[in-house]
Amino acid sequence: MNVVNTIEQIRSLKKQKNALIVAHYYVDDAVQEIADYVGDSYYLSKVCMDRPEQLIIFCGVRFMGESAKILNPYKQVVMAEEHADCPMAHMIEIEKIREMRAVYKDLAVVCYINSTTEIKAEADVIVTSSNALEIVGQLPEKNIFFIPDEHLGRYIAEQLPEKNFIFNDGFCHVHTSITVESLKTAMAAQPEAKVLVHPECPKVITELADYVGSTSGIIDYATHDPAEKFIIGTEMGILYELKKKNPHKQFYAVGHRQFCPNMKRISLEDVYHALDTLKHPIELDEEMRRKAEGALSKMHQLAK
Ligand code: 13P
Ligand code: SF4
Repeated sequence: MNVVNTIEQIRSLKKQKNALIVAHYYVDDAVQEIADYVGDSYYLSKVCMDRPEQLIIFCGVRFMGESAKILNPYKQVVMAEEHADCPMAHMIEIEKIREMRAVYKDLAVVCYINSTTEIKAEADVIVTSSNALEIVGQLPEKNIFFIPDEHLGRYIAEQLPEKNFIFNDGFCHVHTSITVESLKTAMAAQPEAKVLVHPECPKVITELADYVGSTSGIIDYATHDPAEKFIIGTEMGILYELKKKNPHKQFYAVGHRQFCPNMKRISLEDVYHALDTLKHPIELDEEMRRKAEGALSKMHQLAK
């Protein structure tokens, strides 16, 4: 099947099955183009709740599809690619959470949405990069165990000195591969460019940035800021939406390693096969799902 045929087949199957296709900004351009909604983790989680379609084809990594299923147990959530998974989602063990609960009485376990359902079920509240600061700031507990990402945790902690943060050592290999040296080289090559980075980057990178935020936050900043040039410190897939929204502005990646191999697994053919066969539905243990739903719903209540 050629690309044009695949796109036509996807459109016709989507209509026939009344399906919703959602995609993250990091997936391939062609997959973003075929999706009904493209967004950051928080937005995608909200869209899946707000839309009436009962069949959702998820073009993103597994924790995103699981989050949609946690909040919509009666909808069918099908992964476009079953092996697309985020390594960070597995970088914390349940035992560590339980140990921390035994040590601190006044503790909130704040879990980044980049985590498995099993881990979400142990958390008090879920956050994304777009709402973590806002949500943690509203929690009554003084002690915050931030899991699994250390860098996002440290970035939030700096802005909430009244809290006592305990960190975990999870990380994103895409964002930690952005080095000071490569960023400084990019800045020297484009001295007028503003630097926009994701908070999964280490502190040595975020402190050089003009703006730190989620993928949607980066797109909004670049779209509304009068600057003409931007150096982008996150996964390359975001460049598609940045250029689409701002055809007259210039965007530069920091280096060549800002590439998430899991997000990039998803092809147009996968989307077609997912729609055709519904082969990789998200299925969750009901008790675990209910527990995770409590923490994820709390995020939606606390985020404006
Ligand atoms: P956003 O929620 O900012 O889109 O981030 C998701 C992610 O996986 C970043 O690596
Ligand atoms: Fe996970 Fe990093 Fe890929 Fe985001 S970019 S999905 S955090 S591996």
